[in-house]
Parts: sequence; structure tokens; C-alpha cells
Amino acid sequence: MNIFQESCCSILGVLLVFFLQGSCTGPDVEVHKAVGDSLDLIANYSKEDLEVQWIYNNEIYIAEYDKNKIKKLKSQFYERLEMNEDNIGITVKDLKLQDSGIFSIVVKKNSIQHPSKLIQLHVHDLIRDVQIESSNSWLPSNNICMFHLWCLASGDPNPSYSWSSDTVKTGPNLNISLRLAESATLNCTANNTVSVKHTTKTVVCRGKNEYSRFCVKMSNS
Ligand SMILES: *[C@@H]1O[C@H](CO)[C@@H](O)[C@H](O)[C@H]1NC(C)=O
Ligand SMILES: *[C@@H]1O[C@H](CO)[C@@H](O)[C@H](O)[C@H]1NC(C)=O
Ligand SMILES: *[C@@H]1O[C@H](CO)[C@@H](O)[C@H](O)[C@H]1NC(C)=O
Ligand SMILES: *[C@@H]1O[C@H](CO)[C@@H](O)[C@H](O)[C@H]1NC(C)=O
Repeated sequence: MNIFQESCCSILGVLLVFFLQGSCTGPDVEVHKAVGDSLDLIANYSKEDLEVQWIYNNEIYIAEYDKNKIKKLKSQFYERLEMNEDNIGITVKDLKLQDSGIFSIVVKKNSIQHPSKLIQLHVHDLIRDVQIESSNSWLPSNNICMFHLWCLASGDPNPSYSWSSDTVKTGPNLNISLRLAESATLNCTANNTVSVKHTTKTVVCRGKNEYSRFCVKMSNS
């Protein structure tokens, strides 16, 4: 499912790699996954005289392929690793937030080092729920209600928020004013790169009766 894009390292070819190793630091591809998803890391080379190493964050050796076998190595992924010798791939199952990092696939063919594939993984929480909270006040001098609404998602602590009714506004807060007996239906959407959830709420301006407590507070201040 993940497409490994060739980038600077691959284009330079085998020869230059000996001179430039270490100078290509950016990942070939960035992958966004939700907690619980799987990540496929496929070498995709013909098998003759092939050696492959899968490395995490440049220092932790996860698995290696040599002599037609993939061997798991001691790492935090050990229990969650599946191997597939047919396509020389490993799959990291049940991804966790702290798995975010850089995976490299280092390939040697006929003892010649090929450009490494670098995959930058970002693991995100799913947005589980989104709710609209509101507070309001009645301004008798203008005969309007002021509504303060805010949108609250659970799951990812840092989603993007947007509101839509007649227009679209971004951010978790929305203030609107309504005339007496007017109503508005508002729609808040929370998203991150792996999920999106929305909810709606209808607010009605009922005038002063509903807000008597607020009016008392106002006149005291
Ligand atoms: C493997 O490489 C071949 C040739 O570059 C390509 O056509 C194929 O889609 C690749 N397969 C995977 C699973 O990446
Ligand atoms: C919306 O109203 C709240 C509470 O009345 C206020 O604190 C906030 O500054 C207002 N925000 C905007 C963008 O007007
Ligand atoms: C709210 O917004 C979302 C995303 O834009 C949309 O899919 C959904 O249909 C909207 N719901 C209503 C009731 O307008
Ligand atoms: C939410 O979706 C928008 C539009 O697709 C995107 O630009 C934004 O980065 C997303 N938010 C997060 C937190 O990923």
C-alpha cells in the first residue's frame, strides 16, 4: 500500500553512494498511520545474493534477510513483527504512538550497497468523538443573544477544527449573535491526517427568561 518514492539517494545511483553516504538525510517517503494500523516495509529486490537490514531510527536493528531467510532481531517491535519471505518484506503490526520515527531498508546485492530507503512514520491517535459546548448571554439593549461555542474532540490532543453553517471558519471557537426567536444550526468538524469526525448543534435565542441568572450577575458587576 505504501509507495516508496525514489529520491535524491536513489537517483544518484550505486556509484555515488560510496562517496555521498550520509549526505542524503531526508526520508524518501512520509507515512501517516493511526494507532493500531500496520506498516509494511518491503525491500522488493530479486532474491539472488541479496542481503537486507531493517533499521529503526538509525540504530536499532529490527530484522535482517540473508540466505533466503528473514530473521527478527531483539527490538521493541519483536512481538509485533510479521515476515514475508516472498516479497522480502516485514510488517510492523499494532502501531503505537511512540513508534513514530525513521525506518530504513538497507540493501546489499552481490555485496554492493544500494541506496537505503528511508520511511518516516508518523503515528496518530484517531479522533474518537467531537462535541459542541456553548454558553450564551442575552443583551436586552440590542435584543440579541450572544452565543459562544467551542468544539472539543477526544482522541488526538491537537486536531484541526472547522465550523460550517453559512460560511466556514477554522479554529475551535465560534461566536455568533442571534435575534430573538432566531436559531442557527452549526456544524463542527475535527480532523487529523488519519481521521475526521463531525457533529452539529442547534442554538435558539429565547430572550431574557432563559438567561435571568446571567442578567443578575451582569447587573451586580
Ligand atoms: C516492486 O518493484 C517493481 C519494479 O520496480 C514494481 O513494479 C512493483 O510495483 C514493486 N512492488 C512493490 C510491492 O513495491
Ligand atoms: C467569544 O466570546 C467569548 C466569551 O464571551 C470571548 O471570551 C472571546 O474572546 C470571543 N471570541 C471572539 C473570537 O470574539
Ligand atoms: C457537517 O460537515 C461535514 C464535513 O464538512 C459534512 O460531512 C456533514 O454532512 C455536515 N453535517 C451537516 C448536518 O451539515
Ligand atoms: C485537517 O485537514 C486539512 C485539510 O485536509 C489539513 O490541511 C490539515 O492538516 C488536517 N489537520 C491535521 C491536524 O492534520
